[in-house]
Formats: sequence, structure tokens, C-alpha cells
Amino acid sequence: MPLCDGLHLASGYNCSANWPQLKVIPTMRICCIGAGYVGGPTMAMIAAQCPHIRVDVVDLNADRIAAWNSDELPIYEPGLDDLVRQARGRNLFFSTAVKECIHDSDIIFVSVNTPTKTFGVGAHKAADLRFVESVARTIAEVAEEPKIIVEKSTIPVRTAQAIQAILGANAKGLQHQVLSNPEFLAEGTAVKDLSKPDRILIGGEQTEAGLAAVETLVSVYANWVSRDRILTTNLWSSELSKLVANAFLAQRISSINSISALCEKTGADVDEVARAIGSDSRIGSKFLKASVGFGGSCFQKDVLNLVYLCGHFGLPEVAAYWDQVIIMNDWQKHRFSERVLRALFNTVTGKRIAILGFAFKKDTNDTRESAAIYVCRDLLEERANVSIYDPKVTTAQICKDLAIQADEQNVEFSTSAVQAAKGAHALLVLTEWDEFRALDFEAIYQAMVKPAWIFDGRSLLDHTKLRQIGFKVYSVGKPLPQETAT
Ligand code: UDX
Ligand code: UDX
Repeated sequence: MPLCDGLHLASGYNCSANWPQLKVIPTMRICCIGAGYVGGPTMAMIAAQCPHIRVDVVDLNADRIAAWNSDELPIYEPGLDDLVRQARGRNLFFSTAVKECIHDSDIIFVSVNTPTKTFGVGAHKAADLRFVESVARTIAEVAEEPKIIVEKSTIPVRTAQAIQAILGANAKGLQHQVLSNPEFLAEGTAVKDLSKPDRILIGGEQTEAGLAAVETLVSVYANWVSRDRILTTNLWSSELSKLVANAFLAQRISSINSISALCEKTGADVDEVARAIGSDSRIGSKFLKASVGFGGSCFQKDVLNLVYLCGHFGLPEVAAYWDQVIIMNDWQKHRFSERVLRALFNTVTGKRIAILGFAFKKDTNDTRESAAIYVCRDLLEERANVSIYDPKVTTAQICKDLAIQADEQNVEFSTSAVQAAKGAHALLVLTEWDEFRALDFEAIYQAMVKPAWIFDGRSLLDHTKLRQIGFKVYSVGKPLPQETAT
């Protein structure tokens, strides 16, 4: 592996051994604006794989930066602690020195958040680009040499043009290059995805300077990714591909979730259907797991963004096609809550309902757009008492997501699944944490109100065993026992 490409060592020794301890004079400087779920892990990987490059991760949020510099990283990802420990202080630095780092860097990654707009034109569909714009203005103000600016944030197609226009209007005659380099990592497996990516995508202007900038970024990734996995395209193809990749993945989940409803009516088993169709190599087996609904920071935002773009470009039929992916996902989340309500004799008022899992998927502490938020809101609306347990999500985060105070009467923050289930009428599995499989369900059953219900939103548990214990079980897309079928 060409780990030493361009490496200049202070004392001229062989870099192949013990490089983490060596004093390195960086030949290139990279800065990343935005120390979030994308910026943090991605830069940690670049720094770990390229000891000859100095990588600065900067963020306006001083608390977040302090956490990145501590032993309690602000995000939970398997393997991330080791990766950060390996490079932090050597060639990986976290700070709030946004302007200084922009000034001193050759390549500037923009990894700030681009939430869905909540107001004005395009509200609830278009991306809010104010952070991207303000970063572009800061770069224009601070830079004294031409920079390569890399869009890491997922943004609407042709955002690069807007960035270029801002830079062009303010750039003191400097010829900056804007590249698109979308990130495809999934949370919970970020380190694995970054170290062995299916592909790296880099889009740039098809000019001599644009192609040269693309080649510079290719040379960074080529330190650990084989060249045949590094795809280069024009700017717009790259920007659009990120939205389309997420839209296709989300569409598969909505498709199988739509079939889960049909399975429940007909007696088919959605996991069996998924296995049967997924073994057709043209369809493939991944992203066919029926669930309580997809969450995460990207799927909903990016599909809505695609819908907005199609509308904007006068393609209402295409917009409606993709919009249905979101409509189906919203329906699936509410369908789950309604199923709980129906099973509990049409009232959950005053009943204790245990929520197992609040993160949008396992192995992350991220709750953005988590199905658990929607299900809890539905239950609280029906005046249930919910007891919530998640191994990684903090009480503060749950309060923020549900817009409640920590002393809210109807919500208990449990420190274990067993505690959450004590005295509950129902137990809802909303995140597929591995530890839930190994719970002592005999003991949990004894501690619950009868009939004791389990609603498995992830098809995670052994339902035959649970029924033998005495539980009544509902699982998304599974045939329902006679007395509960409707
Ligand atoms: C975000 C977007 O959600 C995603 O679409 C995009 O691909 C990459 O950026 P993520 O890293 O998960 O993904 O977001 P988040 O954890 O919110 O991190 C963004 C960071 O940018 C925050 O820490 C925020 O403080 C910082 N930021 C935002 C700045 O430093 N400057 C700004 O002007 C705005
Ligand atoms: C996604 C994309 O996978 C990634 O490439 C992109 O960079 C960011 O968006 P992420 O949102 O982190 O990644 O996680 P992902 O594994 O895609 O899961 C998203 C949601 O879909 C989760 O709520 C997950 O539980 C759900 N899901 C996933 C299903 O319900 N069924 C499945 O079969 C797969």
C-alpha cells in the first residue's frame, strides 16, 4: 500500500515501520468544516491512512470540538475511538480555528449540515443551504491562495455552481476549484465503510484545472483505496448520484414495508418473501428488511430534496413517484403505533409501554428521524406512560427529540430493558440492538401486566419462544395469530 506517497520525514528514515511515532513534515494540509457524523469519522480515516497529510477538523460548536479532544467522543461508532486515538495529536487536530485552518489548507472539505427547510419557498422539501453558503463566503474572505473545495455535505444538484459564484464574486482573482465528493458511509458501520468503501465518487469541472483538482483528491484516497474503486465524473453526476443512491435504498425499504402490510393481511411472512425475491441476483438481498420505518439524517432529507428538484425542473410525475417513498414510510410508522393501540383494547391511556431502542438503527447514538420518535409521540398523544431504554442514546437527546423536560410525568428514562419492562402492558422493540436478543424474557414476562405484549418493529426476537413463555407477539409483516388478526 502506498502509505508513504509523498511522505517527507524529518530524519529521512524508512516510513514503513512504526510511522505513528515518527515526526512528520506534512506535504499537504486538509481542513474539514463540520465535525459531525460525516466530517469526524471521514477525517479520522484520512488522517490514519495518510500520516503525511495534516488534517484539521473545525467546527463552530466548541462543545463538540472539546468532546472530539476528550475520551468521550461526541458520536458513538464501533472502531472510531481507536481510529481517532491513532492519529489525534499526530496529524489529526480538532479545533474551532475555522479561519486559520482554511487559510493554511490546500483542500477544504465542507461537511456542515444541510437540513430540510422548514420555512418559505421549498419548505419541508428543499435543503437549507445557509451553512454551505456561509462557509463559501468565509473561504472567499480568508483564502490567499487557490484552494480545492470539496462538497462532502449532501446538497441539491448544482450547488457547486452557487459556491463557485460566491467564490468568484469575492475571490480576489484566485481560481478555486469546487469538487463534489459525496460520502456513502452508513452510521454504525462508518469505520468499516470508510476503510473498505464500495466506491469513492469524485466529480469535478471538465476543464484542465478541474481535472487536475480531481486528480489531487484521487491521490489522497489512493493511499488506501484501489484506483478502480475511485470513480470520477462531472460535477452534476456526482452531486445527483448521492441523492439517487439514497433514494434507491430508501425506496427498497418502503417497497418491502408496503409488502409487510399485505403479508399481515394474507398470512405470508415478509422475511420469507424478502429471502425469496432477494435471492434473485437481479434484485439482491440487501435493504429488504421490513421495519417500523427507516430513519436517519439522510434518507428522508435526500428523497425530499429529489422530490423538490423534480418539481423545480417541471417533472411533477417524477416528483410524485419519489414522494411516495416518504408517504409509505410515514404510514408505516403510524401503522405500527395504531397496531399497538388496537391490540391494547383501543386505549393506552395511563398504561405503561416499554420502548426498547431509540436510535434510528443499532450501533449508533444518532436519533435523527428515528422511527422511535414518531411512535413515542403517537403514544404520548394517546396519554400512555412510556419507559424508554436505549444503550447509547442520552436522556437529554430523547428529551430534545420528544420536546419534553427530563421530569415529564408520562416518560421514564430507564437504565435497562428489564427496568423499562417492569409493570408494562407492552414492550416495543424499535431498534435492533444485539443485546435485546439476549434478554431474560421469562423474567421480563413475570414482571409485566397480562396479557403481556411484544411488538417487534425489527423482527429481531425469537417469536416462537416468546409465545411459549406466554407473550402475545406482533412483528412487522408476520402472520398474525388468529385472535389478533384484523
Ligand atoms: C451532515 C449532513 O447531515 C449530511 O447531509 C451531509 O452529507 C454531511 O453533513 P452530519 O455530519 O451527520 O451530516 O451532520 P452533523 O452531525 O449535524 O454535523 C455538522 C456539523 O457542522 C455540526 O457539528 C455543526 O456545528 C457544524 N457547522 C455547521 C459548522 O461548523 N459551521 C456551520 O456554519 C454550520
Ligand atoms: C444511509 C446510506 O446507507 C448511506 O450510504 C448514506 O451515506 C447515508 O444514509 P444511514 O442512514 O447511516 O446510511 O444508515 P442505513 O443503514 O442506510 O439505514 C437507514 C435506515 O433504514 C435505518 O433506520 C435502518 O434501520 C433502516 N433500514 C435499513 C431498514 O428499515 N431496512 C433495511 O433493510 C435497511
